[in-house]
Order: sequence, then structure tokens, then C-alpha cells
Amino acid sequence: MQSSSYTRDRCVTGVHGLDEILRGGIPYGSTVLAAGTCGSGKTTLGMEFLVRGAATGEACAHFTATEPSVKLLENIRQFPFFDMGMVDSGLINVFDMDVLYSWLGLEKASFDLEDVHALIKAITDIVNTIGVTRLVIDSVTTLCYKIKSEQLIRDFLFTLGKKLATLGCTTILISEITSATENAHWSSFGVEEAICDGIIVMGDVERMGHLLRFLQVVKMRGTAHSRAKNTLELTPLGVMLTPMLKWGSTVDNKQGWG
Ligand SMILES: Nc1ncnc2c1ncn2[C@@H]1O[C@H](COP(=O)(O)OP(=O)(O)OP(=O)(O)O)[C@@H](O)[C@H]1O
Ligand SMILES: [Mg+2]
Repeated sequence: MQSSSYTRDRCVTGVHGLDEILRGGIPYGSTVLAAGTCGSGKTTLGMEFLVRGAATGEACAHFTATEPSVKLLENIRQFPFFDMGMVDSGLINVFDMDVLYSWLGLEKASFDLEDVHALIKAITDIVNTIGVTRLVIDSVTTLCYKIKSEQLIRDFLFTLGKKLATLGCTTILISEITSATENAHWSSFGVEEAICDGIIVMGDVERMGHLLRFLQVVKMRGTAHSRAKNTLELTPLGVMLTPMLKWGSTVDNKQGWG
């Protein structure tokens, strides 16, 4: 049998250190769960993923369910890496989930099958119309709270992921978790981790009284990757990942720290 040298095309994230971990980037069309504890840098990572794509002319979209878009942009524009011009020019399109719900007449506490299909159609129509190739949903946890059955959440994520992949869109689904330890679930509903092509975990580790952020790639279908813990720093130039064992020797002022 012939050995294959086939490698899938990659969506180069542009996030410092992440493409090295992923041996070149996220395989195109993947749905990646970025599961993290509060304040672990999920939104910043998602936004940087979009900024790096927009910088090469890709159309990007961010659906925000955890904070209103005005607040989200107010916060993220504090980081010099974020370019508000990309929003103004339509390269990065930010949508409030609440606004989307009201367009669809879905201002209710729980969604049934029909509502879920309407939501999938609305998201995929937006992706298709704008030609979005990078998408972030922040967060899928907040969104799925309205979907009461596990089976419906599974169908929602599976169908959404499949449709987005067909449209050539690489997606980060942000998930809020309460613990990022080895034995923890990396999803809120227990179904997201099996359905997603990749899982990135983000959390905190305490070192000598300091709470350090870490990031670890747990799975990524279609590529070899490191599973080591990396420290995650939020710098003016964006997220910076450093293998945890090396931490302390490689951080310097060249990374844009003031
Ligand atoms: N200008 C800045 N430079 C460096 N770090 C910052 C800056 N602004 C905020 N932060 C840090 O970033 C954290 C928030 O990051 P981010 O919003 O990406 O996390 P998150 O995981 O999405 O949080 P949440 O759980 O609230 O959604 C803040 O708690 C703060 O520690
Ligand atoms: Mg957030």
C-alpha cells in the first residue's frame, strides 16, 4: 500500500504560537470548540482569529451572545492589535444574537426543532451571503441554553458544523466551562466535544500566587498537533502562546509589552 503525503489545506490562525501547535493551522472547514473558564481570553482569541483573517482579505463574522456588540467592541478595541477599520469596512461583521432572535421572532425562553432550524438557516444564510470564511460564535453555551433537549443541541451543532464546512467556513465555537482540569468536561452540555472537529481548552494555573492563563489543544481532527499546555498571555499585539516548560525564559519586551 502506498503511503500518502496528502495534507489538508489549513486556515492559518495567525495567533502567535497556535499555528506551530497545529502544525500549520486549523484544517479548513473545521468546527473548533474553544472551551474556557471565565476571563481565560476566549473572546480575545476569537477576535484575533478574525483580525488575522481579515488582514489577508477574508470575510469574517462574530456572533455575540454573551455581551452586546457595542460593549464587546469597546473592550476589544483597547488592544492595539484590533483594527476598528476592519469592522467599519465590513471585513469583520459583528452580530448581536439578541437582534438576530428578534429578526426571526425567536424572543422566547426555549427553542423547538423548528426554531433551531430557523436559527441554523439564518446563520448559514449570513455566512453564504457575505462569503464568510472565518466565524466565531461567542458563546455556544449561551446560545444552547435556549435549546432544552440534549438531542436538539446535538442536531443543532452537527447540522450547523456540516453546513458551515460545506460553505468553506472555519468556525470557532466558544464554550464557557467552570473548570479546565484534566478530568473536567470541555463542554457545558456534554455533546459539543464529540461533535466538534477540534477542542481547545483555556483556563488558569496558579504559580507562586499568580494566576497564569493556559491553552491546550486536546483534539484536532485532520492534523497532528502538540497536546502540551501553553501559557497564554494577552499582549497589546494579541495572544501569545509559549510552551509552559519554557515559560520564564522566552518572554521579553519584544512582544509589545509596555
Ligand atoms: N488591554 C488589555 N491588555 C491585557 N489584558 C487585558 C486587557 N484588557 C483586558 N484584559 C484581560 O482580559 C480579560 C478578558 O479577556 P476575554 O474577554 O478575552 O476573556 P473571556 O474568556 O472571553 O472572558 P468572559 O468569561 O468574561 O467571556 C480580562 O479579565 C483582563 O484580565
Ligand atoms: Mg468572553
